[in-house]
Amino acid sequence: MTDDFGFSTRAIHAGQDADPATGATVVPIYATSTYTQAAPGQHKGYEYSRTGNPTRAALETCLASLEGGERGLAFASGSAATAAVLSILKPGDEVAAAADLYGGTFRLFERVFKPWGLVARYTDPPDAPPSQGGDGGVAGFARIITPATKMVWIETPTNPLLQIIDIAAIAELAHKAGALLAVDNTFASPYLQLPLKLGADLIVHSTTKYLGGHSDVVGGAVIGRKDLLQPIAFYQNAAGGVPGPFDCWLVLRGLKTLAVRMDRHCANARQLATWLTRQPQVRRVYYPGLPDHPGHDVAKKQMTDFGGMISVSLHGGKDAALKLLTRTKLFSLAESLGGVESLIGHPATMTHASIPAEIRQARGIDDGLVRLSVGIEDVGDLQEDLRRALAGE
Ligand SMILES: Cc1ncc(COP(=O)(O)O)c(C=O)c1O
Repeated sequence: MTDDFGFSTRAIHAGQDADPATGATVVPIYATSTYTQAAPGQHKGYEYSRTGNPTRAALETCLASLEGGERGLAFASGSAATAAVLSILKPGDEVAAAADLYGGTFRLFERVFKPWGLVARYTDPPDAPPSQGGDGGVAGFARIITPATKMVWIETPTNPLLQIIDIAAIAELAHKAGALLAVDNTFASPYLQLPLKLGADLIVHSTTKYLGGHSDVVGGAVIGRKDLLQPIAFYQNAAGGVPGPFDCWLVLRGLKTLAVRMDRHCANARQLATWLTRQPQVRRVYYPGLPDHPGHDVAKKQMTDFGGMISVSLHGGKDAALKLLTRTKLFSLAESLGGVESLIGHPATMTHASIPAEIRQARGIDDGLVRLSVGIEDVGDLQEDLRRALAGE
């Protein structure tokens, strides 16, 4: 399938020709660990399912097509995908990362790869003016990139503060320094943002989120140029953190409706974010679609819409946050994001608990911060759920 087709056509068809063995229209779940050979080495392209599996191959082809990359690789989780990308670095190399970042990625940098010799540097806490998002993060990165920097690592929008980083500007900065730019595109999805087209080198996903879209599977992916993915493919097979065929099938099924789901996530989130800014209990709303968000102009330039994630800081701090978190009925108090159902979370004690408290607070993740993953339910019901929970009804 060529890239001339539109996004939804590729989501439904790329890598998903009728099954060559049976004609099955939907890619089958190839639940096999091994493949029978006619003679040693004579096989049909598959030998062992850690190395390759047809259901996984279909997913990898589709993901590459959606991100506009030459090759995709699927992993057992987003964290496994992150580790696979970091595996191409050597002891002594440096990674320059944004201060606002998924807690598990910070944990991988600090507690898995640091003891092994990787040095991670982070941009300033978000309250320092240049990093507020207005300059797309450029000044912050310019300060921490050194001759040893081999990779720049960003998420945009960031987790959980929804800051916007200017992908094209950071790609230029990274390349001038001889470093690769890796973008975790989990929050935006390729439907809203195509980092490879903006100059990024590698894309990482937690497919657990919008790509799977139904909170029923954990998975990850890496997408990029063939030459860059070759050592990551080696690592995928050597370390073996691969998804099983059923998990691949679930993500592939999720991808088919990504475009329509994202449209509704974005529309619902835009309405709720605007409404939340008018609620007296709310101190600040973090949503890149709001015109006064410091990253709004950069977001408009590099995204087609602003996504389904909102964070809010409440006047009453931790107590108010805990009340809201436990009073919503439609928003489930749960880790994760990007599913059809709305979720509410407390970054300080949940998704970002692996970041030490003093670092977390310096980065703006205060105990009164609540993160919403806005689902695709009827928006009036979601708004009423939040209204009641904020009012303590
Ligand atoms: C932005 C981002 N990247 C990576 C991950 C890790 O993905 P997984 O939980 O699939 O390992 C997460 C998980 O929440 C995430 O939010």
